[in-house]
Amino acid sequence: MATEAHDVVDLIRTKRDRGTLSTAQIDWLIDAYTRGYVADEQMSALAMAILLNGMSRDEIRDLTLAMIASGERMDFSGLGKPTVDKHSTGGVGDKITLPLMPLVASFGVAVPQLSGRGLGHTGGTLDKLESIPGWRASLSNEEMFDQLRDVGGVICAAGSGLAPADKKLYALRDITGTVEAIPLIASSIMSKKIAEGTDSLVLDVKFGSGAFMQDIARSRELAQTMVDLGNDAGVRTTALLTNMNVPLGLAIGNANEVRESVEVLAGGGPADVVELTLALASEMLRLAGQPDADVAEALRDGRAMDTWNRVIRAQGGDPTAPLPVARETTTVSAPRSGVVLRQDALPFGIAAWRLGAGRARAQDAVQHAAGIDLLVKPGDTVVEGQPIFTLSADEPSRFARALESLEGAWEIGDASDYVAGDPLVAERIG
Ligand code: URA
Repeated sequence: MATEAHDVVDLIRTKRDRGTLSTAQIDWLIDAYTRGYVADEQMSALAMAILLNGMSRDEIRDLTLAMIASGERMDFSGLGKPTVDKHSTGGVGDKITLPLMPLVASFGVAVPQLSGRGLGHTGGTLDKLESIPGWRASLSNEEMFDQLRDVGGVICAAGSGLAPADKKLYALRDITGTVEAIPLIASSIMSKKIAEGTDSLVLDVKFGSGAFMQDIARSRELAQTMVDLGNDAGVRTTALLTNMNVPLGLAIGNANEVRESVEVLAGGGPADVVELTLALASEMLRLAGQPDADVAEALRDGRAMDTWNRVIRAQGGDPTAPLPVARETTTVSAPRSGVVLRQDALPFGIAAWRLGAGRARAQDAVQHAAGIDLLVKPGDTVVEGQPIFTLSADEPSRFARALESLEGAWEIGDASDYVAGDPLVAERIG
């Protein structure tokens, strides 16, 4: 048996005692873990030491580069146009990728959106798009390249070849309480984004009750860490810190989120979804060399919608086909007249998940028509008995648990008690 260059127990002790790992140690660690020499229990101990004691900027960069080196790197340089991507840390009702990708692509920029499926209360872009009859999430690298060249945008599943070390480490973190470490989140997200080969990247880093990080200071630290990693690796990277205390838009689910996205592409849709789509599109196009792009006009004049239709068709979908509708609905009405004071993102996300819109285990299927349609938002005036949200599910037995998670999640009170929340786009970093 070949002699190993390092002893993993030494590396664990180093991080346990707040020391620093060298580039050679990190390269070896990720390689040895990927080939199965370093055991899961050893990697778990190390992940916990990193969660508790952190990592230096150099260590985070080395970890990211080592995870990139564990797999393939995509190359879009032959496209002859700039590539720009967006990544969101995820939230409730976050369907922004759907209108954003065709909007940005309609300016002649290539938008390779490698996306994921939902787990728990945060939805996944691929699950939403799979409500469109015929739409296909899996594309070969060649199909992806051809579609970017011919149509300009693509949303598809990330192939298993990108950063396989991250895949193994992320699955381990998920079951060892070590997901929330900023060095591990930042290197996990950025290893996949850098390996994807985009020229520029805009990060939508959420804060608030429905986000990964509730606290804006932690979101800022995560955003800055990822922006540094991207720029150090030659990917022009910026981040917007955005508010996820309230669900985004009115639709939470899958098919209903597609419906809402199409409304935005048709020049309508909820104001917050439009605002964030335009803010991210402007930022993406600024990085791609078009700082003066009139993104609002491209929604109004149908250019973005044309690109959407072409992208959906290119992936086997029928953009004109009816979307699935749930077998059962139940509507909740205002118990009094007044103003909507609160609507907390997390419990609404959990309720949609319990209705069948999300999955508890990676292998579960989602019910595309399940979800919640909000009929009012915080700040709206309502009268007693007015419908305020509708729950949809294929099995009525799901309503009770969903309604249970919504207890205390929203409030109607006097107009004088209404306090407007933080702005939707709170800060720009980078
Ligand atoms: N998403 C990822 O890809 N990795 C993380 O660590 C967290 C969210």
